[in-house]
Amino acid sequence: MATLPKDLWIPQLAFRRMAEDDVPAVIAAERAGYTFPWSEGIFRDCLRAGYVCRVAELDQSLVGYGILSVGAGEAHVLNLCVRPEYRCRGLGRRLLQHLIDLSRAAAAQDLFLEVRPSNLAAVRLYQAMGLQQVGVRRGYYQAEHCREDAVVMRLTLNG
Ligand SMILES: CC(C)(COP(=O)(O)OP(=O)(O)OC[C@H]1O[C@@H](n2cnc3c(N)ncnc32)[C@H](O)[C@@H]1OP(=O)(O)O)[C@@H](O)C(=O)NCCC(=O)NCCS
Repeated sequence: MATLPKDLWIPQLAFRRMAEDDVPAVIAAERAGYTFPWSEGIFRDCLRAGYVCRVAELDQSLVGYGILSVGAGEAHVLNLCVRPEYRCRGLGRRLLQHLIDLSRAAAAQDLFLEVRPSNLAAVRLYQAMGLQQVGVRRGYYQAEHCREDAVVMRLTLNG
């Protein structure tokens, strides 16, 4: 994978709605992606609740996914994940841009998300996409021995 030039395969990236049938592949990626992964039930609840659930595919293979809730003029990125073997090739950026585009199309004024400050790859991705820190939620996340804060970040969409 590392030897493939980016422009040979990145244009083949396709986004589509997540379906119930995608949940096993999503869960596999989730478990590979996070120390404290979401359960299968959470993904099924997100689908039932009507959240914006999208998967990214390369050659019909799931390489990432994102989950967004939109309402009252605000969009919240609830999950964003790229399978480990496909990282550092611009897919996270493309996936987040897709969620931003969907938020704008839904007339959201601002997009928010929470991130662990220790998650440098994600923090740098969000900074590179123009998100700015607007707060901290103390002890928001489960962690190995105690709790970890969440950094709250915002992107103004239609300001
Ligand atoms: C965060 C995540 C989605 C990034 O996906 P990705 O496809 O690797 O990201 P990209 O290749 O699009 O990188 C875009 C930018 O993010 C930053 N970035 C990504 N990975 C990085 C890393 N390992 N170290 C430092 N910066 C990184 C860089 O600024 C990069 O821009 P550059 O390529 O011009 O330097 C991915 O690491 C992931 O799925 N992690 C596990 C799940 C997770 O933590 N999700 C976020 C929850 S808040």
